[in-house]
Amino acid sequence: MTTPAAASWVRAATPEDWNGIERLLTDRHLPTAGAREHLSAFVVATKGAAVLGCAGIERYGDLGLLRSVAVTENVAGLGVGAELVRAVLDRARALGLREVYLLTTTAVRYFPRFGFDTIGREALPSSLAASEELRGACPASAVAMRLTL
Ligand SMILES: CC(C)(COP(=O)(O)OP(=O)(O)OC[C@H]1O[C@@H](n2cnc3c(N)ncnc32)[C@H](O)[C@@H]1OP(=O)(O)O)[C@@H](O)C(=O)NCCC(=O)NCCS
Repeated sequence: MTTPAAASWVRAATPEDWNGIERLLTDRHLPTAGAREHLSAFVVATKGAAVLGCAGIERYGDLGLLRSVAVTENVAGLGVGAELVRAVLDRARALGLREVYLLTTTAVRYFPRFGFDTIGREALPSSLAASEELRGACPASAVAMRLTL
């Protein structure tokens, strides 16, 4: 049997996935603000029509903001999150992005395995200030991280 973590489960998001993505982000207490506008750079893990996981990149020139990394509780710990992060970072590389940043309150210890390092929030590039996630959707206490691709 194919495991939920198999790469074939992960694909680029389409507009039809939005309702499932919005429900997942809401269920996992992550911000939805600005996510739909960047849907073309999201990936999803699906089973049939159900969205089991998602991850997205907001693009600002040659910089990216990784956001909305979430999986449903029933597939947690099976590697789906890692598949999604790797897939969305592959897309970021294919787009020619130089660095990817993220903000998190809940997963500071998750992202170093993909090469992210913690940075001070003052080190976030000013071009990312256009992001709704950075403009208040994410709390001031969130930790900033950076990956050089
Ligand atoms: C973070 C998240 C996407 C991880 O997805 P996942 O598919 O469960 O994770 P994986 O199967 O790829 O990896 C499992 C490993 O990650 C660890 N892990 C999972 N969530 C973690 C978290 N929030 N913080 C630190 N480590 C975490 C597990 O302990 C496990 O560790 P191990 O490899 O040492 O056993 C998932 O926990 C989630 O949806 N959390 C709620 C939303 C959230 O906080 N997203 C991050 C916002 S930026």
